[in-house]
Amino acid sequence: MTEQTTSDSFDRFSDPAPQPSSQPNSQQNPVLQPDAGLSLLNEHHPVKLSINGQKQIFELTPWTTLLDLLRERMGLTGTKKGCDHGQCGACTVLVEGKRINACLTLAVMMDGAEITTIEGLALGEALHPMQAAFVEHDAFQCGYCTPGQICSAVGLLEEQAGKQLSDHELREQMSGNLCRCGAYPNILDAVREVMNNSITAPQADQEAA
Ligand code: FES
Ligand code: FES
Repeated sequence: MTEQTTSDSFDRFSDPAPQPSSQPNSQQNPVLQPDAGLSLLNEHHPVKLSINGQKQIFELTPWTTLLDLLRERMGLTGTKKGCDHGQCGACTVLVEGKRINACLTLAVMMDGAEITTIEGLALGEALHPMQAAFVEHDAFQCGYCTPGQICSAVGLLEEQAGKQLSDHELREQMSGNLCRCGAYPNILDAVREVMNNSITAPQADQEAA
């Protein structure tokens, strides 16, 4: 790795990597070169990311997930690790405005991408409208799923901009985000309110014009 940037925007990693066995193995296939495979796994790759508007360059092993990068390296623990298998949605973040499961995403695949986590939604002290709606509608209990729910809802309304979705469609679109506390009715109320407001606001502007 030779790429350099200013110290405040560059982070260097030395991820732990599997070590080759010290046991001699006369049955090893010389063509497969197992030590060479481990060497590839140990290689660090430069990855440029913009995370909540902050541009940084990382050196990462190819098996580092975006979720582990955010939580373990960046300390952005708002993004939760639930199942770690793409089944609960607790790890949902926005990449270029589109929602993804960070636990299923290798960070090296995101080179050059703009990532937004729950920590990046608010503008200073002002909550994002979706965050405010979740508070207003009491759309959580333990709160573990909430960051993923909010990021998913923000991504959903971006994907469906200008559309009036039915409650059934909203539930379907949010079905990748599970809530063990069963706060679904209140979550639906919050998402519906933001959807309705985001549709009516431009219309009011047009009338004024
Ligand atoms: S932690 Fe990623 S989907 Fe469950
Ligand atoms: S609020 Fe507890 S899991 Fe959703």
